[in-house]
This record gives sequence, C-alpha cells and structure tokens, in this order.
Amino acid sequence: MRSASQQSVNNEIYHALGERWYKAQDDPVALLRAESRLRNPWVAEELRARFAGRSLRILDAGCGGGFLSNYLATQGHTVVGLDFASDALKVARLHDATGRVEFIQGDAYRLPFQDGAFDAICCMDFLEHVEEPELSIREAARVLVPGGLFVYYTFNRNWLAWLVAIKGVEWFVPNTPPNMHVLRLFIKPEDLNSMCARSGLAVDSVRGMAPVVFSAAFWKLLTFHTVADSFAFRFTRSTRISYIGFARKIQEEQVNF
Ligand SMILES: C[S@@+](CC[C@H](N)C(=O)[O-])C[C@H]1O[C@@H](n2cnc3c(N)ncnc32)[C@H](O)[C@@H]1O
Repeated sequence: MRSASQQSVNNEIYHALGERWYKAQDDPVALLRAESRLRNPWVAEELRARFAGRSLRILDAGCGGGFLSNYLATQGHTVVGLDFASDALKVARLHDATGRVEFIQGDAYRLPFQDGAFDAICCMDFLEHVEEPELSIREAARVLVPGGLFVYYTFNRNWLAWLVAIKGVEWFVPNTPPNMHVLRLFIKPEDLNSMCARSGLAVDSVRGMAPVVFSAAFWKLLTFHTVADSFAFRFTRSTRISYIGFARKIQEEQVNF
C-alpha cells in the first residue's frame, strides 16, 4: 500500500460520468455542482465589475462537465473550455445552452494558445488535480493579456480540509472513489500566492468556502447519503477548507516599477 506522501490523485473518474455530471445525487460530482451554484454568479459578477461589463475571452481550464464555461457563455462571454477528459467535454457540449462554447481536449500544462489570448482564465477545482500546479499557473499567466484575471478555486492543506473534503466525502457521499482528492496536492493559500507571484500574477481577493451545515440538505446527506439539489455552500472569511481567489496579471510597467 502506498503511503499518503506517494498517493496519486484519481483523475480517471472524470472520463466516465456521462450525464451523471448534471444529474447524479449519489456521487461527489453533485458537490461540484453545488459549489458551482455559489461560485458561478460571483465569478460572473467580479468579471463584470472588473472589466466594466465588457464581453471577455475566457478560458476555463480543467472545465470538466462545463458548469462554469456554460454559465459564463450565457453571460455573453466568448468561452473556451479545455479538459483532458473527452467524455466530460461531450457532456459539457450537450449542456451548452448558447451553442457558442468551444470545448477542446487538451493539457493545461501545455495550452494550445498564443501568448495573451485571453482576458480571464479560470481553474476551478483543478489545481489540486495536477502534480505541478505551478506549471499550469505559469501557462495560464502566459496566455493571459497584461491586466488579465486568473480565477482559481482549490483546497487548503491542513487536518480540517482532510477531515471535511476527503474523509467526510468518503464517509457520506456514495461512489466516492479512492484518492479522488489527496491531501499532499491540496495547496496552502500562501503557497498559491507565491506560485502566482513567480508567474507575474498578483492575488488581490480571496474568499473561503464551506458547506452550509444547518440545513435539511446537509441532514439528508448525513442520514440518507444523498446530495440533494438544494445542498449549498457559503462564502466564509476563513480559508481553512477551500478558497476561491482572483489574481491580476501584472502589467509590464508594474513589473519594472
Ligand atoms: C474536479 S474536476 C473539476 C471540473 C470543473 N472545473 C468543475 O469545477 O466542475 C477536475 C478536472 O480537471 C481535469 N484535468 C486534470 N488534469 C488535467 C490536465 N493536465 N489538463 C486538463 N484537464 C485536466 C479532469 O479531467 C477533470 O475534469
């Protein structure tokens, strides 16, 4: 048996979910949907506020079933969703109400785009799924325009995140495969800030996220092991479990300042 320091994250599951991306209540993918119900409107609102309501070119790297890509397209943006898993991309396409999202199979370590191709790049629930998150961040920074925005959501590395996001999910959510998440790939916010800084990205806003525990849906999860469609997350000041952040690509003149 492999020790915790050697475990690889299981990314195979994203190839075989089919319509379960959008429908399953007996699978951790239902938690991804619940997270995105909270995150998506906030991301769209931040983009609107920071870019004066302009229509943007956005890359959703590690887009999976397209929860964010498809939402941002409905807000009038030009969106590319990129993922390793072709099956996930098929499902994402089927749920693109605008028919305008370009879903492409690719590797976030080697983005098939020119420098400065995007105004914003989102990596939601993704950085803890790769061995070298800094490589993905560097690639994201490369294909962002100066002043462009890097948006990320990931998990903190500590015992509470291990208990809630790894053990809690394994205990209560059916069909959770071994190593869906591994603690060693969770990222402390200060480490993420440093990775961003080394790629010329300045983190300017971060919020924590946690499940709403005093709710019927949370009780249903504990007792019936079902993730109801009303299962909700909330923003928190604490980033102890998971967190969402925005980082600006520093403009040339700011670097030389
Ligand atoms: C937890 S899912 C998150 C999906 C989506 N971002 C969301 O929040 O619903 C992680 C996704 O990252 C993808 N992935 C992992 N490594 C990748 C890589 N190197 N390049 C592109 N996609 C990758 C997986 O296939 C999977 O769809």
